[in-house]
Amino acid sequence: MGAILIRGGRVVDPVLGLDALRDVLLRDGLVAEVAEHIAAPAGAEVLEAAGTVVAPGFIDMHVHLREPGHNHKETIASGCAAAVVGGFTAVACMPNTEPALDSPALIAEVLRLARAAGTARVYPIGAITRARKGVELAPFWRLHDAGAVAFSDDGNTVESARVLRQAALYARDVPGVFISHCEDGTLKGDAVMHEGEQSLRLGLAGSPGLAEDVIVARDLLIAGETGKPFHIAHLSTAMSVQLMLFARAQGIAATCEVTAHHLVLDDGHVRGFRADGKVNPPLRGDDDAAALRAAVREGTIDVFATDHAPHTREEKDRLLHDAPVGFSGLETAIGAYAAAVPDLPLARFVALLSTNPARILGVPGGTLAPGSPADVTLFADRAWTVDTSRFHSQGKNTPFDGATLPRRAVATIVGGRIVMHEGRLLETAAGA
Ligand code: DOR
Repeated sequence: MGAILIRGGRVVDPVLGLDALRDVLLRDGLVAEVAEHIAAPAGAEVLEAAGTVVAPGFIDMHVHLREPGHNHKETIASGCAAAVVGGFTAVACMPNTEPALDSPALIAEVLRLARAAGTARVYPIGAITRARKGVELAPFWRLHDAGAVAFSDDGNTVESARVLRQAALYARDVPGVFISHCEDGTLKGDAVMHEGEQSLRLGLAGSPGLAEDVIVARDLLIAGETGKPFHIAHLSTAMSVQLMLFARAQGIAATCEVTAHHLVLDDGHVRGFRADGKVNPPLRGDDDAAALRAAVREGTIDVFATDHAPHTREEKDRLLHDAPVGFSGLETAIGAYAAAVPDLPLARFVALLSTNPARILGVPGGTLAPGSPADVTLFADRAWTVDTSRFHSQGKNTPFDGATLPRRAVATIVGGRIVMHEGRLLETAAGA
């Protein structure tokens, strides 16, 4: 494999404590050197990076790739293409496929399809319970041995505290955090949006913030009692933030993520009985969104994650109560996070998108320290307008369609191969 010299970019690496103009040399799939000036080795490809930020590769730890079983919504190939176009060098994919990722053979199949796609790295997340039904425990060690990096029944909450506690005890010594989807089904009922003024005005069934809060509290207490590290997915309420602070003060091993849509949008986005704004957890009140933005600034939120949830147009066009939940997020993420918290220091932006997810998942990357994988994201503060017809994801369902966003990915390098440059996919062939 050849060498690539990334020349003259602003290198931002929270691990190295670096924010300065530097050259970066990649060789044999690894970072070889970061220095003020590096002469291009003979035969090296030179990537001019002036005007861009050069960061350790972004890792989206919450993505639905839909394969196996829901290939009409997304495939591993189309999802990975969307990932690298969006600036992600790696994604962790959720097990709510059909069948669910609850066996070593299915984990191996996801990894095989990802290798065949040959773009982003894919880290499968195994189920916590068989078929995500919340009853029997999944075989944690065997899933780990097959390549699962974490465990989750995402899309569903593990309803029984007893089952979740047993799972956490059984899996305590298995590497891999438990990722919690926090919605109490009894409080949520058949809600299609957040319970608040807007749901009252529309006459629609709402899910109160409390539906999230009680499960966040429960899962953090189970983390504390069992000693199993928990990661709370897509935080959406002001109270969840307070609960995270409480857990940390108790020394509980817990981390959390927030999506761009919960930072930028509120329940006012659910209009005209359309499902465009339908997502789980639902878009909340503007006070919740403001509390989440403050929590990002204050450092309570560890990770920016997309919860990329592609669905077909036909599915999202169904009647509100019938339509599926979620948004296609990979190709808008960098811009939407920058729009949400424009004053966030770049080192924090990179930590939330790279260093922290790498640490929480226990996967390589998150830094450009020499010897690290040659996974690099280049981005720039260049305004652009979202046009879903250009998406590489099969899912065009995003509330950001037509929005102008302030930041975008410029190039994505995975394992020392430039796979995306200026929005174009360059290498899709396998073999890295
Ligand atoms: O909006 C969502 N969509 N939230 C989830 O938890 C699941 C996801 C999906 O799989 O569509």
